[in-house]
Amino acid sequence: MTARFDDKIVLITGGSGVIAGVTAQAFADRGATVVLTGHNPDRLAAAAARLRPGEGGIDWVAADVTDSGQVAAMVAEVVRRHGGLDVAFNSAGIFGKGAPLADLDEDTWSAVLNVNLTGVFLAMKHEIAHMRTHGGGVIINMASNIGAHGRRPGLAAYAASKGAVSVLTQTAARDHIGDGIRINAVSPGASDTPMSYRPGETSADRDARVKAAVPAGRVSDPAEVAAAVLWLASDDSSFVVGHDLVVDGGATA
Ligand SMILES: NC(=O)c1ccc[n+]([C@@H]2O[C@H](COP(=O)([O-])OP(=O)(O)OC[C@H]3O[C@@H](n4cnc5c(N)ncnc54)[C@H](OP(=O)(O)O)[C@@H]3O)[C@@H](O)[C@H]2O)c1
Repeated sequence: MTARFDDKIVLITGGSGVIAGVTAQAFADRGATVVLTGHNPDRLAAAAARLRPGEGGIDWVAADVTDSGQVAAMVAEVVRRHGGLDVAFNSAGIFGKGAPLADLDEDTWSAVLNVNLTGVFLAMKHEIAHMRTHGGGVIINMASNIGAHGRRPGLAAYAASKGAVSVLTQTAARDHIGDGIRINAVSPGASDTPMSYRPGETSADRDARVKAAVPAGRVSDPAEVAAAVLWLASDDSSFVVGHDLVVDGGATA
């Protein structure tokens, strides 16, 4: 893609994560100032140190996405340090323990819904509060092909949380396109990060499972997810609003 993000301030939640890191590097390579946020300062600092700054810089600000006060303070700090917020990629998420619904413990349910759904709600709430009074912006939420697009046994909490992110994205997009804020989601299938492994699986096990289930025959490279995020963040998708872009090699086609 040829789009540039010069002079843009890009915020990425779950910033110490694998897909977040690859996406952060792609934004940085195209001129953006990238700010990572997450709940573990040591992991964030390490993730930021792994990135090569482009024309903009790399920064991090800690915040737990399940805590409204921390998210509000984090957005205020990003604006204080960098003078604005143009693009947000809300990628923080957890998979949770899998179990058939009747055996799913309530702590897992609450944790998965809190991070994956409430975390996206709180991130958007505070990002939008800034963007709508400062000329607009672009938001991309991380959903999943497990959710609105496909289901798998034993993943009720994850599927419910990510399906809700897809719907939340559409409703938020309608609410705020009039404020100049374009909101979309990306829904990857299995991508080459630790989250794509089932408990106890080797790489060979995972690859064989995915080969049988995914028409493209493989997991995605996180760079293929990042490319979708950058397209949604760029003016190349300027009339794309409330879309949920599935990047899953045909798994839910
Ligand atoms: N990998 C896949 O196959 C796949 C497929 C579809 C969708 N996704 C989604 O893509 C996103 C990133 O996935 P990934 O594979 O790159 O996972 P990852 O490496 O585990 O990244 C997830 C990130 O979320 C952060 N996080 C967790 N709880 C948080 C909280 N309460 N507040 C702030 N940050 C928090 C984690 O921080 P710590 O590490 O410090 O806890 C981590 O940086 C997730 O939303 C995931 O559901 C992944």
